[in-house]
Amino acid sequence: MMDYRNMFDFTGKKILVTGGTGTLGSEFASAFASCGADVVISGRDRKKADEVLKKCRIYGGKFDFVSCDLSDIRSVREMVARARDILGRIGVLCSHAGYSIRRPALECTEDDWDSLISIDLKAPFFVACEAAKIMNEQNGGRIINTASVSSARGHRNLSIYASAKGGISQMTKVMANEWAPYGITVNAVAPGYVPSDQTADLISDGSKRDELLSKIPMGRFGKPEEIASTVLFLASPGASYITGQTIYIEGGRMID
Ligand SMILES: NC(=O)c1ccc[n+]([C@@H]2O[C@H](COP(=O)([O-])OP(=O)(O)OC[C@H]3O[C@@H](n4cnc5c(N)ncnc54)[C@H](O)[C@@H]3O)[C@@H](O)[C@H]2O)c1
Repeated sequence: MMDYRNMFDFTGKKILVTGGTGTLGSEFASAFASCGADVVISGRDRKKADEVLKKCRIYGGKFDFVSCDLSDIRSVREMVARARDILGRIGVLCSHAGYSIRRPALECTEDDWDSLISIDLKAPFFVACEAAKIMNEQNGGRIINTASVSSARGHRNLSIYASAKGGISQMTKVMANEWAPYGITVNAVAPGYVPSDQTADLISDGSKRDELLSKIPMGRFGKPEEIASTVLFLASPGASYITGQTIYIEGGRMID
């Protein structure tokens, strides 16, 4: 029987968050921490990681940081193995690191393509595969990738980013299909606009900000906690029959 009342009780659960030093990833880490989980965050910035870990430690679980530059796949493999060593297992992977390039397609270089696809699509592929091998040995787990409204929409100046995020949604479906027999669910969260390092340039520009807001029926940007609560749901027993889905959290941006 489903324990509805304690659906978000993650006591003793083991969580790995990539991009855990970023705006959204750090919120995911502290959200899981507040629900009793042990969390490893990965990223490149030790100082930011220490700030995130300090917030998590208020809740009394086990928290650690593993440094990893996702452009190096060997480092990706080592990071996932190290997270498993620290946690003992990996119950939930939140694969969340990423960045965007805003530029017309005709101005994009081969370097732009290679670097963005490497971080936003290739690395999440290998992070998920490494985690799935571990989850398969454990008889199950949850993988939550990070897509975007750009997975499904053709907004200008985001051609490479949209290619990567569209790829994340498709990759999520195939992984879900292949790994369902191992008890692993694979889903993606797709935020609309949430103020963060990634969107700071857009949101701080008055006219661009107003234009973006005019296209969001709810008339406001998202908050990190509104993405984190969906991540927690996908990791919870309540989402046990959901797999292969991209869940859009965008204030109605995609309704019409
Ligand atoms: N903020 C939004 O509006 C929004 C909307 C849709 C999707 N997203 C996605 O959410 C995710 C997080 O974005 P955010 O808004 O928190 O931005 P952010 O810039 O605050 O966080 C991104 C994180 O990814 C990490 N990262 C980037 N390149 C890396 C690399 N080479 N190796 C290791 N780590 C690397 C950064 O260090 C940072 O911790 C991204 O995948 C982004 O595309 C964000």
